[in-house]
Amino acid sequence: LPLILNRNMNLFKKIALKIVQKFILGDSINFVSDIHELNRSRLIPIPYYGDFVRISSLELVAYEIQQYHLIGEVAEVGVFKGLFAKEINAAFPDRKLYLFDTFEGFDQRDMKIEIKNNYNVSGDFTNTSPEGVLEIMPHPENCIIKKGYFPETTEGVDEKFCFVSLDTDLYQPTYSGLEYFYPRLIPGGYIFVHDFTPTRYKGVRDAVLEFTHKYSLSYFPICDVGGTVVICKNFSE
Ligand SMILES: C[S@@+](CC[C@H](N)C(=O)[O-])C[C@H]1O[C@@H](n2cnc3c(N)ncnc32)[C@H](O)[C@@H]1O
Repeated sequence: LPLILNRNMNLFKKIALKIVQKFILGDSINFVSDIHELNRSRLIPIPYYGDFVRISSLELVAYEIQQYHLIGEVAEVGVFKGLFAKEINAAFPDRKLYLFDTFEGFDQRDMKIEIKNNYNVSGDFTNTSPEGVLEIMPHPENCIIKKGYFPETTEGVDEKFCFVSLDTDLYQPTYSGLEYFYPRLIPGGYIFVHDFTPTRYKGVRDAVLEFTHKYSLSYFPICDVGGTVVICKNFSE
């Protein structure tokens, strides 16, 4: 019996998890499993709670960037308390990480456009600070805080990027983020735009569609919790 139990442990675990999922947690919660036969350790620890797909996708593209020896720094526009930024910082321990945020919530200039277009996005993102964000970064020495209104805060930044996360919830900074970063993206580099798929953030979706249609770019929506869309720059560009 111990031998049979031992041999079938994974199967038993899977059945037990299915039972817990189905009858205790319900259908809306799903256990995830990591990629089988990855044949390498993950670059960063990936929690199995929260947005596993988003962090796991970040880890995968960081690995690809490393494999292709792509140069360039990394950035996030829309940092708030730094929850995703800390994963970027961990996945790219040898790159500068630019952190763009007002650290005072949405700006009236962007909100006027939201209201005019009936995007109706709201949210209070005032409860944060650059110091608090730096405190949770695994490599704070690599972080460059750009506090203020984006894209004004890009002044004086002269870099190429291999990975950028745009997570502002709004039309205007998403569009200007794409206009600013895409030409500065290394061929083979990636831009993740959060909140592309959920209908609640129509401005983000409109900004991505407008930009990708204007420059005839393709994109790939991923099935993470926030409905991220990924834009990858062609190696021929
Ligand atoms: C949804 S939060 C970001 C969440 C964050 N990425 C995380 O992992 O938790 C959106 C952030 O975008 C910032 N933001 C929106 N528009 C901005 C702009 N034009 N310039 C700078 N920051 C902006 C807000 O201040 C807010 O902190």
